[in-house]
Amino acid sequence: MRITQALLGEHGAIYPLLDLIERTTASSDLEELKIRAGCLRSALGSHANLEDELLVPAIRSFLPPPALAGDGAPAPTDHEVIDSGLSRVLSSLQVDEARQSLLDTVAETRKHFLKEETIIFQLAARELSQESQEQLGAEWARRRGVRLS
Ligand SMILES: [Fe+2]
Ligand SMILES: [Fe+2]
Repeated sequence: MRITQALLGEHGAIYPLLDLIERTTASSDLEELKIRAGCLRSALGSHANLEDELLVPAIRSFLPPPALAGDGAPAPTDHEVIDSGLSRVLSSLQVDEARQSLLDTVAETRKHFLKEETIIFQLAARELSQESQEQLGAEWARRRGVRLS
């Protein structure tokens, strides 16, 4: 199995969690919002780490240079923006602020997934040899504890 197939499958498994959060945020109290943000952070954090450690190094030379912030330092990556959004929910003292941060972070996650599905993963499928895509897929399975055969 190729690495991009594995990562696409992870997106597929995370979408129902995004749907659940969008459906329930308006009626959730602060504690419930934080529980959902914690679940999302667990799912997205491990997914993002696998992308950053397995896929990104293999395709870095095909990606544009990292964007710069106003002060010339590297701008935060999508993964960092999403993680700080979830941190804001987890440290929030006000329910309205937590709700807005959680919904903004879900929207940011959907935008990021779409970019990966329509641009980044397709670039990887085009530029990497089938053998290296399958080696990365095998490493993904080892790290996730999934048996491929
Ligand atoms: Fe990602
Ligand atoms: Fe992803």
